[in-house]
Amino acid sequence: MDLGAAPGGWLQVAKELSEGKIVGVDLEGIAPIPGITTFRADITQESTVDLVKNAIGGSADVVICDAAPNLSGAWDKDHALSIDLARSALKMARKLLKARGNFLVKVFQGDMFPSFLAEVKRDFSFVQAHSPAASRKESAETYLVAKHLLTAPVRQGDVMDVQIDSVGKSGDGVAMIENFAIIVKKSNLGDKLRVKIQAVKPNFAFAEILERKDK
Ligand SMILES: C[S@@+](CC[C@H](N)C(=O)[O-])C[C@H]1O[C@@H](n2cnc3c(N)ncnc32)[C@H](O)[C@@H]1O
Repeated sequence: MDLGAAPGGWLQVAKELSEGKIVGVDLEGIAPIPGITTFRADITQESTVDLVKNAIGGSADVVICDAAPNLSGAWDKDHALSIDLARSALKMARKLLKARGNFLVKVFQGDMFPSFLAEVKRDFSFVQAHSPAASRKESAETYLVAKHLLTAPVRQGDVMDVQIDSVGKSGDGVAMIENFAIIVKKSNLGDKLRVKIQAVKPNFAFAEILERKDK
């Protein structure tokens, strides 16, 4: 799925790299490319998700977004608009990607970048910022490569009360939240604990003890 795909350069590369279905969306029209579905829509609009879902006919393996605002020349404004577009793309990626799907998004650097990066990190198990040599220095474009969409019911930094109901091979206690394993270091069977999620992996999370509730 290619968001902000006009005039279609990335779509053509995607076609060379993938044998899967490819769909492109943009505010502007895209000249027909054999085998690729394209349509005009605004990625900041909620209704676009349904249009895209219908076009894909399921969930996507990969969402890429090169969408960019019309440049005003005022960097702060262009940066804010770029972050806004990237946030819309992230929202769409959450709804469109299959579990463990991948996301790539372009953003203009600026003071809102770190908080956007943190948002992407909450949803994917691997995130790396990459500034290709081809990007002009003054434009300070960065591409975020985010791999493996997390579908876990917890996120890094969450605080919750749990009970340890089994012990893993490592000897650490394990609490289950909605069938998802939370490994709590230095815990024992039966412990009732307030924990903080430290890291989330596709199939389990690590947590640290904040407070013992039963001792
Ligand atoms: C740099 S171009 C994309 C180039 C494309 N990756 C290619 O290879 O041809 C950025 C595109 O983002 C699109 N865009 C900007 N805001 C958008 C929005 N809200 N919804 C959809 N597309 C948008 C623009 O119309 C423009 O075509």
